[in-house]
Amino acid sequence: MGRLLALTLAYLAYLLAATIGSERQQHHVQHGPCSYTFILPEVEHCHPLRDFRVTNTLQRDSPSEAEPDSNESKQTKLENLESAMENNTQWLQKLENFIHENVRSGMEEIKRTAVHTQTAAMLEMGTNLLSQSAEQTRKLTDVETQVLNQTSRLEIQLLEYSLFTNRLEKHILLQTQEISRLSDKNSFLEQRLLALEARYGRELQGLQSEKQQLQEILERQSRLVSKLQGELGSSTFNSTLLQRQQAMLTHTVQQLLAMVNHCNEMSNMPKEESLTFRDCAEILRSGMTESGIYSIQLPNSTQTIKVFCDMKTRGGGWTVLQHRTNGSVNFHRGWRDYKMGFGEPSGEHWLGNDIIHKLTSSQEYSLQVQLKDREGNEAFSHYDRFYIDGEDSNYSLHAEGFSGTAGRTSSLTHNGTQFSTKDRDNDLCTCKCSQLASGGWWFEACGPSNLNGIYYPASTSVVRYNGIKWYYWKGPNLMATMTTMMVRPANF
Ligand SMILES: *[C@@H]1O[C@H](CO)[C@@H](O)[C@H](O)[C@H]1NC(C)=O
Ligand SMILES: *[C@@H]1O[C@H](CO)[C@@H](O)[C@H](O)[C@H]1NC(C)=O
Ligand SMILES: *[C@@H]1O[C@H](CO)[C@@H](O)[C@H](O)[C@H]1NC(C)=O
Ligand SMILES: *[C@@H]1O[C@H](CO)[C@@H](O)[C@H](O)[C@H]1NC(C)=O
Ligand SMILES: *[C@@H]1O[C@H](CO)[C@@H](O)[C@H](O)[C@H]1NC(C)=O
Ligand SMILES: *[C@@H]1O[C@H](CO)[C@@H](O)[C@H](O)[C@H]1NC(C)=O
Ligand SMILES: *[C@@H]1O[C@H](CO)[C@@H](O)[C@H](O)[C@H]1NC(C)=O
Ligand SMILES: *[C@@H]1O[C@H](CO)[C@@H](O)[C@H](O)[C@H]1NC(C)=O
Repeated sequence: MGRLLALTLAYLAYLLAATIGSERQQHHVQHGPCSYTFILPEVEHCHPLRDFRVTNTLQRDSPSEAEPDSNESKQTKLENLESAMENNTQWLQKLENFIHENVRSGMEEIKRTAVHTQTAAMLEMGTNLLSQSAEQTRKLTDVETQVLNQTSRLEIQLLEYSLFTNRLEKHILLQTQEISRLSDKNSFLEQRLLALEARYGRELQGLQSEKQQLQEILERQSRLVSKLQGELGSSTFNSTLLQRQQAMLTHTVQQLLAMVNHCNEMSNMPKEESLTFRDCAEILRSGMTESGIYSIQLPNSTQTIKVFCDMKTRGGGWTVLQHRTNGSVNFHRGWRDYKMGFGEPSGEHWLGNDIIHKLTSSQEYSLQVQLKDREGNEAFSHYDRFYIDGEDSNYSLHAEGFSGTAGRTSSLTHNGTQFSTKDRDNDLCTCKCSQLASGGWWFEACGPSNLNGIYYPASTSVVRYNGIKWYYWKGPNLMATMTTMMVRPANF
């Protein structure tokens, strides 16, 4: 009802404005506290709307209202008024829509221009970025080619190295074969030498008996000569014959004397060998008190072994098992070398695991380890009881009753540790101690000692893991100038 009233008022205001002057463009409507202003296009230049014709009709009808009221005319007037108002309302709505549209299109325009400028800026940035990234890509490609170049060069080098390594390996293989062939030849020669020695011994005995016979003959001859001389003295006649006989006899005697001398020389030399000893302690007891090389014969064996006897240290009688003094012998060797022994008893050597086993298991032996550092300080470790098992137990070590000056703790490994070489790894380490530490030894994992490690000259000051080691005396690197391992009967 309020809305209807407002529209009615609006319409009335419009009518008023239209009648007063068509030039007026602004239209005000007051409704309660609110006022409405309409700005409309000029009426004159527009075709009169049908709506307005209706109002004109209404306007024209207005003066006739003075006529006596008729129910019907009133009714129609009211209806007309209502429809006009409705038309106006529609018109107003159209107007509103038009304004809305205008406003929206304006906004869109603004938005579009803003978007345009932004897009331009973005495009510029985009192009900048593109050019920059192209630059980067080019640089990256350069770097990549360089890297590829380096890589290919490295690969070529690697290939060359591996070829070189292969050649070296082949060479080493050949050398190893050569070495094994040589060592085979060596053992063959050793056997021949032994055979020769045996023959020589037999010949010697023959010569000795011959010598005795010759001595007897010589005595008889000299007796004869003196008798003859006496006869010669008594009978000055027959001198020619006698002289001739004498000359003959003298010649014979001279020959015999030369032979006797020769025999004496020959029998004096090998006099020591004609007796057999089982170790250096027995040799010492037999009266030889000089340290040096002697022959021993192992129990239940005909094999004669040359050993070095130390007749001075702590009462003497020591059979030397191992000796290092100047690094002249290579100790980084395989199982077979350690089994058979290597080096010369006069210098650096390893007596041989088979011999050490046979010797130390034939009776109770004690072990003496003599050490000298590069300042010349000497020390020793002593074990009351020492032996090693046979090859079927991998020469397991057994050493008890430790004492000495080379450390307060024993540097030999536990009871039962097996022997390892570079080609037979019997240690308790997942590594190969013999290859790491070098030499053959009773490595545990890898243990505090290795007297068969590499002999570094005294001038070397760098700590080496593979050097000679007697840990509880000098730490990981002994820098020994001398080591000796030697045994003597425990009851000596
Ligand atoms: C209102 O408009 C319609 C068409 O838009 C017209 O037929 C009608 O006659 C108009 N009424 C008045 C009172 O002008
Ligand atoms: C007008 O109409 C009303 C009812 O519709 C009626 O009572 C009244 O008499 C009428 N007046 C005239 C003058 O016809
Ligand atoms: C690698 O780079 C070197 C110089 O840096 C050049 O002489 C050689 O030709 C390049 N090799 C390749 C395969 O690009
Ligand atoms: C010379 O020796 C022979 C026999 O030896 C002897 O018969 C002879 O009488 C000797 N002659 C002289 C002159 O002594
Ligand atoms: C090493 O010592 C041994 C025995 O003392 C000797 O025969 C040998 O010549 C020495 N070798 C070197 C390289 O000094
Ligand atoms: C020597 O051989 C005999 C018999 O074969 C044996 O009873 C003895 O134990 C052996 N001795 C050694 C030290 O091997
Ligand atoms: C000795 O060593 C070999 C290989 O090095 C091994 O096969 C064997 O079992 C070892 N013997 C013993 C008794 O441990
Ligand atoms: C060493 O081992 C042997 C057997 O392998 C055993 O009879 C002996 O008692 C052991 N000695 C020590 C001190 O453990």
